[in-house]
Amino acid sequence: MPFETADSAFLSGILEKIAGDVALAFSYQAEDVVALHLARAQTVRPVQVFTLDTGRLFPETNAYHAELEAFFGIDIQRYIPDEPDVRALEKRLGEWGMRHSLENRHDCCRVRKVDPLRRALQGKSAWITGLRAAQSVTRTNLQKLEFDDNNGLIKINPLADWSDERLFDYISRCHLPLHPLYAKNFKSIGCAPCTRAVEPHEDIRAGRWWWENPEHKECGLHLKEV
Ligand code: ADX
Ligand code: SF4
Repeated sequence: MPFETADSAFLSGILEKIAGDVALAFSYQAEDVVALHLARAQTVRPVQVFTLDTGRLFPETNAYHAELEAFFGIDIQRYIPDEPDVRALEKRLGEWGMRHSLENRHDCCRVRKVDPLRRALQGKSAWITGLRAAQSVTRTNLQKLEFDDNNGLIKINPLADWSDERLFDYISRCHLPLHPLYAKNFKSIGCAPCTRAVEPHEDIRAGRWWWENPEHKECGLHLKEV
């Protein structure tokens, strides 16, 4: 059995038990490329693929978008933030105000990511993410199968227990295209104002919101009610 078939067996097993539309949240990171590859390898049902285009992505991300669509032969649906909300946000925060306080940063993530995610998930039965427990202290309790109370649907995290080594081994064995910023010492890739390259000794999330403490480094897409 080819290894990608073995790896996608978990996803097939879950999709067989779920009726209705399933969507994969694609952020252009290595994890999402693998999750997408697994979703394409399962034969239970086609999975829709969407991205939250925050309006603050790297230019490299936009170029990579086209490369990926061609590689997988798919359309990645873009969800954009509400225009009046963005105007109000920019008036209040300017271009870089998200770096000035946690509150500002959460406001920006809410308008540009969390609200569009709600729209993207409307009418869906489940969504698939590239989340991994090893990514951060905020994700240590991550399960492969969860119920997303915030959005009211099933959440599937097929890579929840994957290590960095397993992830990049899969990518190289399947010859999957990687976001070009990985070659420039980025280990995690989000919006341009909030992501930087990291030193080899730094952890994979060190370049995300680097001015914040690790326990705050979540944009709100994956926060759980406590
Ligand atoms: S974040 O909370 O810090 O922004 P992270 O970048 O680790 O999340 O991504 C975790 C998962 O959330 C991704 O694998 C992807 O499934 C989803 N995700 C994050 N950002 C986006 C985005 N802009 N568009 C679509 N999905 C996203
Ligand atoms: Fe705004 Fe930064 Fe959040 Fe992107 S990651 S939505 S630029 S605060």
